[in-house]
Amino acid sequence: MIANKSVNRQIVLGSRPVGAPTADNFRLEEREISTLEDGQVLLRTQYLSLDPYMRGRMSDAPSYAAPVAVGSTMVGSTISCVQASRHPGYQIGDKVLAYGGWQDYALSDGQALTKLDPKMNHPSLALGVLGMPGFTAYMGLLDIGQPQAGETVVVAAASGAVGSVVGQIAKLKGCRVVGIAGGDDKTRYVIDELGFDACIDHRTTEFALQLTKACPKGIDVYFESVGGAVFDAVLPLLNTKARVPLCGLIANYNDTALPHGPDRMGLLTRTLLTKRIKMQGFIIFDDYGSRYPEFFSQMSQWVNEGKIKFREDIVEGLENASQAFIGLLEGRNFGKLIVHVANA
Ligand SMILES: NC(=O)c1ccc[n+]([C@@H]2O[C@H](COP(=O)([O-])OP(=O)(O)OC[C@H]3O[C@@H](n4cnc5c(N)ncnc54)[C@H](OP(=O)(O)O)[C@@H]3O)[C@@H](O)[C@H]2O)c1
Repeated sequence: MIANKSVNRQIVLGSRPVGAPTADNFRLEEREISTLEDGQVLLRTQYLSLDPYMRGRMSDAPSYAAPVAVGSTMVGSTISCVQASRHPGYQIGDKVLAYGGWQDYALSDGQALTKLDPKMNHPSLALGVLGMPGFTAYMGLLDIGQPQAGETVVVAAASGAVGSVVGQIAKLKGCRVVGIAGGDDKTRYVIDELGFDACIDHRTTEFALQLTKACPKGIDVYFESVGGAVFDAVLPLLNTKARVPLCGLIANYNDTALPHGPDRMGLLTRTLLTKRIKMQGFIIFDDYGSRYPEFFSQMSQWVNEGKIKFREDIVEGLENASQAFIGLLEGRNFGKLIVHVANA
């Protein structure tokens, strides 16, 4: 489907999912582009970031951020181009990082926009390695994980936007790094391209045994993004004084009830107590927003020097965003998931 120039295609939340989202929970609508008022800019979406947190916004369960209302446009970060401006700070052609949402065009009053360097020849990196996921990896690992040279760091969702960066930073810090990922292609990529020491496929029946073998000295830092069966395998391997940055729990995002099986709360709390483990959740911009410049400067240098590699999974067309997002929750993405909406 090709975007009509005077029409704004928007993907709205059609209904709240119960369990895993389906195509029926989304609706593509077409509306006229609103008229610009003084102090506003009209943004043309070039790239839309798809991220796991959006599953939380589809639900009205209590969370750290308000849900998307049913019938409203799905939220999300975008790389956008200023197409018209009645704002003194922005000119036509400026490229910005915005919170434009799942749509072709967005109006903005200029707040919450970040101008991108016009010379930036790969602007979508501001949604990935140089943006929110990279920042999450950097702060979660370094501030909460505090990895020391020689320690063993285990990284969940290791081929993804956050995990891929976590493991590479841990390697730069001199750690032994073991990734966890789904399937041969991802595990091979994590070892061969990203330089992790090992990567274990969480989909195999021998997962827990292989993880144990890959961590002969136990685990000092576990970067948690998954939960569920992956955490069950990690827990007994955690060393005394281990640190667990609790970044995400994607295996549970579609849950409608507590997991089946025996209650493991006692096992968890006993392990945390007796091994004096620090497990800390964090929400990246709420907890670390002021440190973004430090991150951006360091990560830009690492990326330019080729010390941190990245992979993008680019889906063509806004109309394909819903299916791509559903796939993200099933592990069908391979790298930072981004929708290419339009050329600059
Ligand atoms: N706290 C924060 O501020 C913050 C900020 C950003 C992201 N996060 C969290 O960080 C995590 C990773 O985000 P991302 O953007 O980097 O996504 P991503 O890793 O690029 O993509 C998600 C990956 O999660 C894995 N996955 C999905 N379901 C799984 C399951 N049941 N068991 C094991 N693995 C599963 C899949 O990889 P495999 O195919 O390898 O299984 C999938 O590709 C998410 O939990 C997200 O919510 C938190």
